[in-house]
Amino acid sequence: MIPAKKRGNLVLTGMPGSGKSTVSRRVAKALNREWYDADAVIEKEAGLSITEIFEKFGEDYFRALETKCLIKLLMRENTVIATGGGAILNNAGLLKENALVVYLERDLEGIISTMKAEKRPLVKDNPGMRIRELYEKRKSFYESGCDILITNNAGLNDAVKKITEAYYAYFSN
Ligand code: S3P
Repeated sequence: MIPAKKRGNLVLTGMPGSGKSTVSRRVAKALNREWYDADAVIEKEAGLSITEIFEKFGEDYFRALETKCLIKLLMRENTVIATGGGAILNNAGLLKENALVVYLERDLEGIISTMKAEKRPLVKDNPGMRIRELYEKRKSFYESGCDILITNNAGLNDAVKKITEAYYAYFSN
């Protein structure tokens, strides 16, 4: 049996607005791997948007759906997965045991200036302040929960190249 850590899965974690979905989609294309955005999978299965899930059922319920979804996705092989920004909080062990975990780090100024806050229930009321607060609470989780930290401050191509190279270096050994 192939050890979980060698099944070829790649996970991107990081703050909301750090570019996880866009970058991971391009990485999956470059690696010719399947790509999943965990939030999109949750929305499809629930038949509700993330905002609606938070409004109707609350954050704890969303977190339970998130963990269930990640378990399912991580049982696959050679899959690239974008996680929601809070997924690291309850699932650090699960992610690390079943994937190469990349923390996609982006400057907060860049995040705040480009993010679509209205689709993000935890930050929509005051994006500038909420992003800084979340970052302070989560920084250590992202850092300790990752195998590699890759910065996304120099454009999409740069981040995709660095992650693709890290993937090959890791899985070809
Ligand atoms: C969340 C981030 C969101 C989404 C949900 C909760 C968070 O994903 O999972 O709104 O706790 O940071 P993005 O990181 O794609 O915004």
